[in-house]
Amino acid sequence: MSSLKTIGIIGAGQMGCGIAHVSAIAGYKVHIYDLSQERIESGLATINGNLARQVSSGKMTDEERKTALALISGSSDLNDLAQVDLAIEAATEDESVKRKIYAQICPILKPEAMLATNTSSLSITRLASATDRPERFMGIHFMNPVPVMKLVELVRGIATEESTFSAAKEYVSSLDKTITVAEDFPAFIVNRILLPMINEAIYTLYEGVGSVDAIDTAMKLGANHPMGPLQLADFIGLDTCLSIMQVLHDGLADSKYRPCPLLVKYVEAGWLGRKSGRGFYDYR
Ligand code: CAA
Repeated sequence: MSSLKTIGIIGAGQMGCGIAHVSAIAGYKVHIYDLSQERIESGLATINGNLARQVSSGKMTDEERKTALALISGSSDLNDLAQVDLAIEAATEDESVKRKIYAQICPILKPEAMLATNTSSLSITRLASATDRPERFMGIHFMNPVPVMKLVELVRGIATEESTFSAAKEYVSSLDKTITVAEDFPAFIVNRILLPMINEAIYTLYEGVGSVDAIDTAMKLGANHPMGPLQLADFIGLDTCLSIMQVLHDGLADSKYRPCPLLVKYVEAGWLGRKSGRGFYDYR
């Protein structure tokens, strides 16, 4: 445990639930906020399902699952975040949505509370400027699925104070994760490298070089990746993939980051991958 005791999570999607899951296992009290009680219920059910998986595979006891679950609460009332020491925003990868959340939450948080974003690509310095506490704001970027992936990227904005950074480091280390520090450049380290690879896989499909199955099999068996790039794109969410490519394209002004038109078309069709039931694969 770190000096932070209570963690607030904004967003009960796959990332928010994963962060809540690993924080509760490490003994933190966790409160999840989302817009509706329905989303909270579905998030809590996901967490319970993933904890149960870990019980079945012998990674924890049922007693530990119950203890972790009892540490997690959730509501659709932002005021319930008034007592948290660290709030982690894990909302959709849309800057205007994040800015709106900061405007609503900053007057509610304790003045000394830290605020972090799980953004996978956006400028930490620019997001910090939309808060009342840029010195206590930074990026804490978890990987999906959070309970399984060992890495967390830490990113300081220009105004982030050293005490904020060291508290975040202490918190992430207490979750048994490995930290990598990235500078505040578009998409940081992991997504700067991973997303152009996924985008290239989509171009490979778009240009007819190979089928979905051929591309994924090639990268799984030919490069030893645990998932093929198209399966991974569906897993991340095609809207998130597109948004990260747009941030890279705009922020680095290089045509090598141009989002593949097929990715754009899928997102326009509402084919967002696993979460919407259809992407490069059919999940219905
Ligand atoms: N919660 C808890 N445990 C989980 C889990 C979850 N959500 N998902 C999988 N697991 C566990 C399983 O229970 C299983 O545990 P045991 O080994 O103890 O049995 C283990 O993980 C492996 O899972 P599976 O057997 O179901 O399936 P798998 O072997 O195919 O692994 C995977 C699944 C771990 C997701 C693997 O396919 C993988 O590593 N894929 C790549 C993931 C990746 O690249 N993530 C990064 C995405 S990029 C990102 O996140 C950054 C961003 O901002 C977009």
